[in-house]
Amino acid sequence: MLKAMISTDRIKENLRTQFIGRKLHVYDAVSSTNDVAKALGLEGVEEGTVIIAETQTKGRGRMDRGWFSPKGGLWFSIILKPEIKAKEVPKITLAVGVAVAKALKRQLNLDAEVKWPNDVLVNGRKVCGILTESVTCGEEVKIVVVGVGLNANIDLQKFPRSIREAITTLKEELKTEVSLELLLCEVFYRIEREYATFLEEGFTRILSEWKTLAPFIGKNVEVTVFGEKFRGLAEDVDADGSLTVRLSDGSVKRVTAGDVKVRMV
Ligand code: BTN
Repeated sequence: MLKAMISTDRIKENLRTQFIGRKLHVYDAVSSTNDVAKALGLEGVEEGTVIIAETQTKGRGRMDRGWFSPKGGLWFSIILKPEIKAKEVPKITLAVGVAVAKALKRQLNLDAEVKWPNDVLVNGRKVCGILTESVTCGEEVKIVVVGVGLNANIDLQKFPRSIREAITTLKEELKTEVSLELLLCEVFYRIEREYATFLEEGFTRILSEWKTLAPFIGKNVEVTVFGEKFRGLAEDVDADGSLTVRLSDGSVKRVTAGDVKVRMV
């Protein structure tokens, strides 16, 4: 494996966390950092260990979609070991969304927003996706892997034409490149804080903060759930992290997994 260009030393010098990112595995290329993290997590590495890759050959998004992962992006996975039930894992995705949005604001002064369930947007376009996967035994959670893909120092033109409209990159928004190491340190710090809040006081405060960053709530949306589409008003995200949509007949549909598009009309 070639030596990675992301500097572990620079990360260590600037890290402000107690445990996230204190143990780092930085690779030039892996298939998917989530897969490497899952394997290491099951081998018993410490909570907070992070796997970073400069490129992924089989980066994954939700619903087994591919995730374009060229050089210049931040592609990493964090191993967590929360003492929670399996049904609470989706809350971690929302907490990490809040953390990434805050990190982009604090570090780069970007007004980032979130979209259910796992996107962080800048100027209405997706700049970051979060893929949370867990290894469970019944209701018991063994490990949680939080995979974060942040389109950082990449020219928009490098992305496949089919997704270019819907996404953006930090380079596109800022017209300059950012320090990947400093941004990672800020993101780790923000994730550690939201995670601590979640474990210590529960989900209420994180959820209300998430909602303040979620302009799609209250808008007309089209939701796709396993290939089936329906329309309605995105009414709320409930205490379990599920989306509630009011349909035209007045009934409310609760969605636990799917894609949301804001409708212009
Ligand atoms: C999504 O929006 O569908 C989630 C995308 C998550 C991508 C990240 S990149 C690092 C980690 N490794 C993967 O294979 N996927 C996640």
